Amino acid sequence: MTRRDLDALLASREMVLVAGSGGVGKTTIAAAMGVAAVRRQTGNVLVLTVDPARRLANALGLEAVGNTPVRIPRNALERAGIDARGKLFIAMLDTKAGWDELIHRHAPDEQTRDAVLANPLYRNITSRFVRSHDYLAMEQLHDLHATGEYDLVIVDTPPSRNALTILDAPSRMAEFFGSRLLRWLTVPYRSRLFTVASKPFYKVADSVLGSRFLQDIADFFVLFQAMEEGFVRRAREVESLLTDPRTAFVIVSTLEAAPTHEARYLARALDERQMPLGAIVANRVLPSALASPAASAAAATLGTGTGAGDLTIAERVLTALRALDDASAEPSSDDVDVAEVDRILHRLAERFDDVAMVATREADRLAELAELSPLVVSVPWLSGDIHDLRGLGILADDLRNGSHGAESPR
Ligand SMILES: Nc1ncnc2c1ncn2[C@@H]1O[C@H](COP(=O)(O)OP(=O)(O)O)[C@@H](O)[C@H]1O
Ligand SMILES: [Mg+2]
Repeated sequence: MTRRDLDALLASREMVLVAGSGGVGKTTIAAAMGVAAVRRQTGNVLVLTVDPARRLANALGLEAVGNTPVRIPRNALERAGIDARGKLFIAMLDTKAGWDELIHRHAPDEQTRDAVLANPLYRNITSRFVRSHDYLAMEQLHDLHATGEYDLVIVDTPPSRNALTILDAPSRMAEFFGSRLLRWLTVPYRSRLFTVASKPFYKVADSVLGSRFLQDIADFFVLFQAMEEGFVRRAREVESLLTDPRTAFVIVSTLEAAPTHEARYLARALDERQMPLGAIVANRVLPSALASPAASAAAATLGTGTGAGDLTIAERVLTALRALDDASAEPSSDDVDVAEVDRILHRLAERFDDVAMVATREADRLAELAELSPLVVSVPWLSGDIHDLRGLGILADDLRNGSHGAESPR
């Protein structure tokens, strides 16, 4: 029986796509998975990130990097307490380029390319059809994967209103080229535009819209059709990479209501598209021990202020504080009396109820997510931001320790 944990997942795939709603920790988890991977396996691991927080980007040396992968030096990893067997590379995914870049890439020749780019309708029309940014990101990672230089590519996905846009980008690109609208528009325009019957209409149209308007449209789509084959072939390749068994999706979510909902939706969407879900990472999770009835009972007892014996709990706590003060250079209980300690304990007990309630809700949501994925990993809320390699190293440990993998297939 194979062990199900994140290490096993990272070792068995060539491409891991990290998805989820904004702000849940996708970029951070993607980077931490890169660290986890090079700790365990030899070979080249590339983390393709989208929008690292500035401090993290600086720490990783990404400022100067752009979309060419750079290697994180082994001694930098060592200094952060990371003992790496493999080589870790990092790059920024370029999501700014748009259609121009696609045209540059797919035009069969320079003439077509320049004609498309110079066509006055080009920008207007393309901006209405497919959002090319998501698609470009997909093409980039296809390229990087295709170089064969990396044993594993971990891809952070762009923040988008709907994570599905990135999954569907390739198929929408292919559909765009196969669409009836485009076919109709690319029927050689002489036969369509200049039939005797339609001539008056086009005359009027031209006089209203400008003399070359329809000609431009026709030219544009004819040019576009010249690129269809290349575009569609690529889109299909990218699409098949997303459904390849060597690829896995990792959904990152916090256990708040909205991100959990989004994660469930995403898991189902992957299933429908036959895109392999490898794991759900529940990030910034409260310790489950907080949800235990025993912990709540203990907190309640502290809050009542009276324990066993003659002394109240507040008195005992104060005695303990004073004993600590005796041993410390900075006394903390000088100005505190029993009544004050009692109030503090009360307040702590009340707060504990709130925290316990959140932890209980989180445990329920984690259980819901576990039904949708072969592996669920929970990662605690670390104090302070994660902004350097050391933080990523700690997170990488947590990713390993937090696996709730089913031992048997689900
Ligand atoms: N487990 C965690 N503990 C503490 N802070 C975290 C954790 N995961 C992420 N963060 C912080 O949360 C913020 C958002 O994370 P980020 O990875 O940029 O999210 P996303 O890419 O999903 O928008 C960052 O400041 C990051 O340092
Ligand atoms: Mg991000």
